[in-house]
Amino acid sequence: MTASNLPAHIAIIMDGNGRWAVSRGYPRFYGHIRGAARVREIVRESRTLGVRALTLYAFSTENWKRPEEELSVLWTLLRKYIRREVAELKRNGIRLRVIGEWTRLPEEARRELVAAMETLADGKEMDLVFALSYGARAELTDAVRKIASDCERGILKADGITEATLEARLWTSELGDHSNVDFMIRTSGEQRLSNFLLWQCSYAEFDFPETLWPDYTVGEFRKSLERYGARKRRFGGL
Ligand code: IPE
Ligand code: IPE
Ligand code: MG
Repeated sequence: MTASNLPAHIAIIMDGNGRWAVSRGYPRFYGHIRGAARVREIVRESRTLGVRALTLYAFSTENWKRPEEELSVLWTLLRKYIRREVAELKRNGIRLRVIGEWTRLPEEARRELVAAMETLADGKEMDLVFALSYGARAELTDAVRKIASDCERGILKADGITEATLEARLWTSELGDHSNVDFMIRTSGEQRLSNFLLWQCSYAEFDFPETLWPDYTVGEFRKSLERYGARKRRFGGL
């Protein structure tokens, strides 16, 4: 993979943890535990390759429908991940960001996230973005609300609204030049976006490996990147 065909922004829907566990006779939460180990490897590999932004869909707005015990395992795993990884992330120049309505998360998890984001605020090599309690419809609705409020306050005029006006009010705006997704990967064979980054994926390439997330090794990730490298992106041109 040469730098020219490496996606600048990769987004991953880490799906299939529950099925992975259940098919082996384990409770669903065990799949999340095994999945968390993959997160660490994929983050490392992305950084080594020179990816600019990696957005990981860890929890959707709709995932609040899941049983309380499963949710509590997810928050525990999130806290463990942060505690265990923050030093290495720091050494590797990784900046941590969170998108979504993550103020809904339990307080301990929020506190841990805020502290890690502060520690990693000056990372210049790669943005690691966790999508937590994220929904693209909520994000777009929020952007529209901000625009309406700016219009009411006289900061904006309706006929001055451009795509950039909206883009600047999305939760991904901090990613600057690489806020749009180049490559979207969803593991487990499902071929849908499940309310993930609808605006930002307008011109993304998609990959749907059958592999369940706990089995998605660095080797599998490299295969996905090879498939990306072979694509011709035309953006409507010739
Ligand atoms: C993805 O795995 C992780 C989260 C949604 C938190 P799932 O838990 O959706 O696993 P499956 O799709 O049921 O196998
Ligand atoms: C999407 O997976 C969210 C994450 C992987 C975090 P889901 O498993 O929740 O999506 P659906 O329900 O299959 O669409
Ligand atoms: Mg799923």
